Amino acid sequence: MTALAVLALAALAPVALPSPIPIPIPIPIPGPHAVSFPVTAATEGHDLGWAQAEAGRTRRRYWSETRKRRRGKGHDSRRVPQPRGVAALKSWGDSYSVRAEIGTPPQQLDLYVDTGSTDLWVIGTCDNSSECGDTPTFDSSASSTYTPTDQLFAMNYIDGGRSTGVWGGDVVRIGGQAVRTYFGISQHTTNWGTAQSGLLGLAARAGSSKRVEPWWEAAAREWDDGQFGLSLGRPGVEGSVTFGGVDVGAYEGGLTYYAHMATEGWEAGWNIATGGVALNGRRLSSAVRMAVLDCGSTGIVGPKAEVDAFYAALGTDIIDLKDGSYVFECTAQLGINASFVFGHFGGTRLATLPEQHFYLRDADMAIVRGSGEEFANTGGYEAMRGLPGTWCLGALSSWESTTEAADAWILGDSFLKNVYSAYRVEPRAVGLAALKDSRGGDGWEGVPSAAVGVSSG
Ligand SMILES: *[C@@H]1O[C@H](CO)[C@@H](O)[C@H](O)[C@H]1NC(C)=O
Ligand SMILES: *[C@@H]1O[C@H](CO)[C@@H](O)[C@H](O)[C@H]1NC(C)=O
Repeated sequence: MTALAVLALAALAPVALPSPIPIPIPIPIPGPHAVSFPVTAATEGHDLGWAQAEAGRTRRRYWSETRKRRRGKGHDSRRVPQPRGVAALKSWGDSYSVRAEIGTPPQQLDLYVDTGSTDLWVIGTCDNSSECGDTPTFDSSASSTYTPTDQLFAMNYIDGGRSTGVWGGDVVRIGGQAVRTYFGISQHTTNWGTAQSGLLGLAARAGSSKRVEPWWEAAAREWDDGQFGLSLGRPGVEGSVTFGGVDVGAYEGGLTYYAHMATEGWEAGWNIATGGVALNGRRLSSAVRMAVLDCGSTGIVGPKAEVDAFYAALGTDIIDLKDGSYVFECTAQLGINASFVFGHFGGTRLATLPEQHFYLRDADMAIVRGSGEEFANTGGYEAMRGLPGTWCLGALSSWESTTEAADAWILGDSFLKNVYSAYRVEPRAVGLAALKDSRGGDGWEGVPSAAVGVSSG
């Protein structure tokens, strides 16, 4: 399920809430563009049905996004003062969550972390136990610091799902930093289907000053160092989000900052120029495109011609599933040496940065792995029934057709868990560095099985 649009508050002043007196707030207006949240299985594992649905969600998420691009300018790197807060990330296999404490006394809630959307919201009332029966919810009546508003909160999902409620204000503490902020409190949620109690959006409000100031931007006013850093982690390696700095122990070789691409309609996201995907250090296209760094997406979506070229170059049997997804033969470890390229692109203002590759682990190129029979049974791919060998659903998928977003790359967790990433506020930029700790998640054995039953997306 994908959120189509977020209704946001208009003209809310970007200041901390001073008092519990309800503040007159103008009526909600539609957000400037599609914003969504990920929906994933509530369990640790993936399954094929989930993976297909997720790839579709990632594509649809950007379906109606914009086209025109203007290249950002400049870059630099800098030293980092003491961070303001640090929180552990919990890996759910296909997404990441962080523990938040909301209200007084604090209520503990796990929230999805999403650099691809802006707002913070939590489930307030679960009115359908098969949706969120076991999910902890936020009880505003139990908080002495809660500030109600009469403003409606609503997210609409492309496939008919919906989350509606109200905006409220309270103290939200994450990673040791407490900030009074407004957030959405959902009273009715359709097709949520996860163990998480809500979502922490880490994209910017940029592009619409009429939106509610998100938690992290309010928190950023207390940061000495105007950036947050992410290491997503994987089984055996704990990830973290650092607010007001970066975790200097988590990476090596220094962060290189790439200027934000201030593309119209994509203002909220964290977007930088990329030379696209490369195999064994060789780029597969000379095009320079926008990469959206989105930890709320599991896989990677890219331009069809480049994704086709990537799979054609693998030197193994490929099945184009015709829905944007690809399956490749992976009985043995393939040693796929894929990277994404940033930096020097002739003729641009980024030309002073050298071309730099960030490599992805072999096994991260697969989302699920199984026999042809399993793909047929759980994914409905009858053409794969009886195929010998073992097959992998590729982490790279392509836009299904020519869409407005079809020339952008969405770099989700399959990419981001291979790097340390830093998100700088002013001037906006994304820093990337090689991870220091490369333990965990090695080998095809770690790729989730395609044999798990299909879940409806
Ligand atoms: C409750 O949620 C389930 C699972 O999403 C759905 O099938 C069902 O229609 C929902 N019931 C109501 C009353 O909304
Ligand atoms: C991947 O390719 C690059 C460029 O050829 C090379 O330097 C690097 O060692 C390769 N990595 C692996 C794991 O093979």
